[in-house]
Order: sequence, then structure tokens, then C-alpha cells
Amino acid sequence: MENVDVLLGLQWGDEGKGKVVDVLTPQYDIIARFQGGPNAGHTLEFEGEKYVVRSVPSGIFQGNKTNLIGNGVVLDPVLFRKEVEDLKKSGHNPRERLRISRKAHLILPTLRMLDAANENRRGDRKIGTTGRGIGPTYTEKVARQGIRVGDIESPSFKDQYNKVRENHLQRLKDLGYEVKNLEANEAEFFEAIEYLKGFTLVDSEYVVNDALRSDRKVLAEGAQGSLLDIDFGSYPFVTSSNTIAAGASIGLGVAPRHIGKVYGIFKAYCTRVGEGPFPTELTDKTGKLLAERGHEFGAVTGRPRRCGWLDLVALRYSIMLNGVTDLIITKSDVLDTLAEIKVCRAYKVNGEETDQVPYSMEEKIEPIYDTLTGWKTDLTAIKSEEEFPEAFRLYIDYLEKALQTPITVVSVGPDRSQTIFRG
Ligand code: IMP
Ligand code: MG
Repeated sequence: MENVDVLLGLQWGDEGKGKVVDVLTPQYDIIARFQGGPNAGHTLEFEGEKYVVRSVPSGIFQGNKTNLIGNGVVLDPVLFRKEVEDLKKSGHNPRERLRISRKAHLILPTLRMLDAANENRRGDRKIGTTGRGIGPTYTEKVARQGIRVGDIESPSFKDQYNKVRENHLQRLKDLGYEVKNLEANEAEFFEAIEYLKGFTLVDSEYVVNDALRSDRKVLAEGAQGSLLDIDFGSYPFVTSSNTIAAGASIGLGVAPRHIGKVYGIFKAYCTRVGEGPFPTELTDKTGKLLAERGHEFGAVTGRPRRCGWLDLVALRYSIMLNGVTDLIITKSDVLDTLAEIKVCRAYKVNGEETDQVPYSMEEKIEPIYDTLTGWKTDLTAIKSEEEFPEAFRLYIDYLEKALQTPITVVSVGPDRSQTIFRG
């Protein structure tokens, strides 16, 4: 029996998961998403083209692999349809290779509105969500009144929809939210439901476990990042799913003992989109330089991402929670022009130095930095580890020691080809 390998982000998302999943795809038979939904925007570049996938796994571009949307995902049929049609326009037709779990929950038009209504109500404590209805859809799931993909096959789907719709409209009213264009949104939704019926819906827990039993290899693709995890992230400024490795177990129906390798991806600096604490945030010209050189704008919402130095306290926390076996560092090339590079090795909280993430990340956290020498070399053209400039080699050594985990992949640019496997 094979195990499921998991690949996930160790920061606040946007670590470059899409690119690396695409690069690893040839080693696997099935690529599966296990949580999140169209709040994700996974960007891939190859052969001069750029693609962004939201709900479709990033394994769709290479070699006819099965791509699975697992039970832990929330699916917006309208955005899904658009995503698939866009992929088709660019010459990739995922329909044959895609499988969708019947147990995945549906994002309804009214749930998207509830996302906006909840944010309005929170005022200056707003989360800064992507506005895709993620939180309200997971809330419905846990409240045991969600609608699942498998329900679209039932003759009573419409009745089921009408019931929850009433409930949602009442809540929207209570929140003082002015509902607009409901009919148009619903018409679009039901058309998209018909479209969805053209895809292969499966009991994905069997698909995955049968595959493992016949020694086929499965890669679980995380979305968002560990610091946005509903239990362990910077609550309440988090997303509404378990983004950590354990989420792959729940979101695919794989027993914990069948989780194999855990690839943890991190950027050589930190970014965060939306509100919430960010201890190493830079609001100065270095922050601006990272944003510009790193093209740090949200793939889903286009919002500028906040930028800051690498945070080893948070990274060690994520490595612990996920049981990371292999680290993958991305976007070191963004730091190419810097003479000095800072890395936060500890926090000072209430005057005390600590190497732990405090209960509330909203406490006043003062980062304590180590300063490393920059490599001042263009990394983007480097093809192998032997070509690393000395200062970069020292930087990687420093990180491996500090994190007690091997860095096995170094990504030095957005293209597939700009990926260096080590050791
Ligand atoms: P939600 O997932 O739309 O509810 O948003 C909750 C928080 O997670 C907000 O701060 C979002 O900006 C953030 N977020 C959600 N999805 C992503 C992602 O894929 N990348 C980065 N941040 C995300
Ligand atoms: Mg993203």
C-alpha cells in the first residue's frame, strides 16, 4: 500500500504551491485538493504561458494524471465553470481527468453574500476575506445544513436549495444586508449546476484508498497556508478550514498512518493578504522592494500583499504542526539585490524572549533578527546547486540548521524549469 504525500504552504499562503505541484506531478498518479475553495489562486508558468487555477488541482497541466477535488473542498459551481472554460480556451481540457467528490460542499450565491455581510458587520475587525463565501459555506457544513455536490443528483435538490435559501435570506436581512441581483445570481447558479453534472462525481474516499492499495501515488495539494489554519493560525484572522497536513486526512478520507512525505513550502520572505497580525511586516522601502520584485499582488482579488522578513518562529511552528519531511524554498531570487537579509529567529513578547508563537498573535510581538549577507547575484538562471553563490549556500545552510529540516527543493523563478532539486 502506498501513502499520500502532502504538499502545503507554511506561511500565509502564496508560497508558490501551484508551481511546485506542477513540477512534482510527473511523480504521481493522482493530484488531489483537500480543503479550501476558490479563495485559492495557484499560479503556474511554463512555455511562456501563465495560468491561475482556483478549484482545479495544479496537476492538470502534465501527463494525463487524475485530478481530484476532495470532500474537504468547498466548490462554487459558477466559478468552477468559468475556470474550466478558461482552461479550455488555453488548450487544456480538464474534464476527462477531473473527479469531484460528492461530499464536497457547494458555495451558494446567498453564502457569498453572507461573506460580505459578515465582513461589513465586523467593521474595523474585518478579516479581509476573499469574499468567495468560504467561511459561510464551512459554517453551514458544521451546522449540518450544507448542500453537497452529491445532492445535485437528487430530484429534491431544488427543494433543498429553497429551504436553505430562505434561512440565508433571513440572516442577510438580520445583518442589514441589501440583497441585489439574487435572481440573476440564482439563474447563473442553476446553469452552472447543470454544467457540473457533466463531470465525473465520485465517492472520493474510495478513489483515493483504492489507488493507494494498487500502489498508485497520490499527492495532496494544500491551499492557503498553515498560519491561516482555522485551529492554529492567527485566529480569528484565518480561513475556515484546516490547512495543515492533518487536513489532508480529513479532506480526502485517508487514515493518518497513510500520510507519507510532507512537503512544506515557504517563501524566502513573508507575505500576507487581508487583515491580521504579521510580526515581521515591513512598511518601509524594503517592504516595497519585496512587493515589487516579488510581484506580490493577490492572484484572486488583485489586492496588494503585505510583505516582511522571513519568520523562523512561525516557520518552526508550521513545521511542527505538519510534520514536514522536506522543505521547499521559493522566491529567494526576489532577495537578489539586497546587501543584507534579515531573518527573525525569536520573538520578544512582554519583554521576554521566546521561540514560541504566543496564544494571540495580536500581542505586541517584537521580532529579534539575525542579519545575513546577501548574495547580490541573479539566481534566476542557476541550474544546479553547484552554481549557488557562496553567500546563498551559507543562507541555505543557516536555514536548514535553524529549522532542523532539509531543504530539498529550491525554486528560483516562476517557470517550471527554474527548479533545483538538491542532494
Ligand atoms: P477566506 O478564506 O476568503 O475566508 O479569507 C480568510 C483569510 O485568508 C483572508 O485574510 C484572506 O486574504 C486569506 N486567504 C484566503 N485564501 C488565500 C489564499 O489562497 N492565499 C492567501 N491568502 C488567502
Ligand atoms: Mg495564491
